[in-house]
Amino acid sequence: MEESQTPYEMLGSDGVRALADAFYREMDESSDAAGIRAMHGDDLGKVRSLLAAYLTQWMGGPPVYLAVKGSMCLTEVHAPYAIGPDERDQWLRCMDRALVRIGAPDELRDMLREPMYRVADTVRNQDHSGPKVRDPNIIAVG
Ligand code: HEM
Repeated sequence: MEESQTPYEMLGSDGVRALADAFYREMDESSDAAGIRAMHGDDLGKVRSLLAAYLTQWMGGPPVYLAVKGSMCLTEVHAPYAIGPDERDQWLRCMDRALVRIGAPDELRDMLREPMYRVADTVRNQDHSGPKVRDPNIIAVG
């Protein structure tokens, strides 16, 4: 029986970097990702290399994100941003289009769909999309 490859083995380190590049290019160029683009600074260079490091490790490659950040936890770094279902779905759309852009095989896109959803839904910190309610004593209406 053939041993199954990790996503990292399928893409290689250059492929993962290309995926992070394509992801932020999608975010930058897609009008249906304008909501999440606006949360980022003008220069995407730093976050692009952090995403490449994160994905390298998450996809089964060497622990390069851990070496830089000391943690793989994404909830804390995303806590300042209001991330609801719409923002999660914008992110996932950019990722799926980025996989197409780099010519990733359908097999890999299918393989990543469910775990990518799970990680993006873990980053979600609101039940509804819209401004973040920071004061727990304020009850949002509607
Ligand atoms: C669900 C929707 C998501 C939104 C709206 C979002 C948005 C953001 C924003 C605004 C930043 C800060 C960028 C900056 O400093 O300019 C960030 C950082 C980052 N995001 Fe996300 N993100 C999402 C999901 C994810 C997911 C699923 C991953 C990984 C699979 C991820 C990986 C990262 C990484 C690695 C950083 C850099 C943080 C650090 O290590 O300092 N994000 N994200």
